[in-house]
Amino acid sequence: MNPLLDKLQPYPFEKLRQLFSEVTPNPAFSAISLGIGEPKHPTPAFIQEALAANLSGLASYPTTAGSDALRTAIAGWLERRYGLPPPDQATQVLPVNGSREALFALAQTVIDPARDALVMCPNPFYQIYEGSAYLAGAAPYFVNSDPQRNFAPDYGRVPPDVWARVQLLYVCSPGNPTGAVLTLDDWRELFALSDRYGFVIAADECYSEIYFKDEPPLGALEAAHKLGRSGYPRLIVFSSLSKRSNVPGMRSGFVAGDAVILKKFLLYRTYHGGAMSPAIQAASIAAWNDEQHVAENRAKYIAKFKQITPMLQEVLDVALPDAGFYLWAKVDKCVPISDTEYAKRLYAEYNVTVLPGSYLARDAHGANPGQNRIRMALVAEVDECLEAAQRIVEFTQKLAKIH
Ligand SMILES: Cc1ncc(COP(=O)(O)O)c(C=O)c1O
Repeated sequence: MNPLLDKLQPYPFEKLRQLFSEVTPNPAFSAISLGIGEPKHPTPAFIQEALAANLSGLASYPTTAGSDALRTAIAGWLERRYGLPPPDQATQVLPVNGSREALFALAQTVIDPARDALVMCPNPFYQIYEGSAYLAGAAPYFVNSDPQRNFAPDYGRVPPDVWARVQLLYVCSPGNPTGAVLTLDDWRELFALSDRYGFVIAADECYSEIYFKDEPPLGALEAAHKLGRSGYPRLIVFSSLSKRSNVPGMRSGFVAGDAVILKKFLLYRTYHGGAMSPAIQAASIAAWNDEQHVAENRAKYIAKFKQITPMLQEVLDVALPDAGFYLWAKVDKCVPISDTEYAKRLYAEYNVTVLPGSYLARDAHGANPGQNRIRMALVAEVDECLEAAQRIVEFTQKLAKIH
């Protein structure tokens, strides 16, 4: 067996299952889960129809690079969304089967394990970053997000001897779980560090189309372009239809950026077997070429978050995020309680599932930045989310009275 597998931690939902294993939720309430970040709004009919109309594609093997038509649709979307010069669809974009597998696979492509490699991750973070680092023979190095700086990791505190070992740096903007979006200044700092130390930046942007501010989130390619960088050196972005178009089961996304890295990534994927089904490719073209369903989807999230955030602010330390579909709340505003205890009692007394923040982060530099926080995924329709919020308010008020 590969000994590196022993380094993988149980996934947060496995930890949650263990936390809840001896709890029987109050039968007076129906179960509501804000635990898993899985989009629940319905898949648009035109995407389903495009998939059904192209089932004949199941009769042939797809190429790893995907069809010209798909790469053209992706390049066109990038150009429209971020105001970029037209990306070269032959060398600068590549379809992937959802951003998750690609985030993992990129580490296998760029890491040289013989050089004492580090992979830099934000903390809290999407769990794939850590697993991909270990399985590529590297070690993760966590940089804690700072609530005082809109949850930006403080890269200025990382010592030069650590930077010298970093081969890959994951960025998540909009962030999961924080919802925070990196600014142009943040990108300027990261690009300067990448130029100096030579590491690759993997920019995870799968939440880019769900946002609450007037301006859409700044993308990494857009930042590079604005800062006058040509060819996106050492930069790869990851985008996905899962959240944008409510198709998490379709497994469709893309990577774009540095053509030199993408050439090697394509080679890796050819051996690994990372080609996308032709039927999915056809449905993806339809999805990337339409923005109306994306705007409607976003409007639903905006209405939901604007109603629910103020309710929860009565009892939790929480703010409307820049983007994404999570609330990242501090639970000890009214009463001293840990995130795990809060989640367990909320489940026992009100049958609402939330994810303890400490499960999404690691102890680093003397702290776990997820401690005393919970992540709530507002993915269900508004009535169910409202019902959950009312129960959370009642539960927290009751807790505060007991103390
Ligand atoms: C931060 C982040 N990145 C990537 C993904 C993977 O999404 P997909 O593989 O559906 O594109 C997720 C899924 O929840 C996520 O939260």
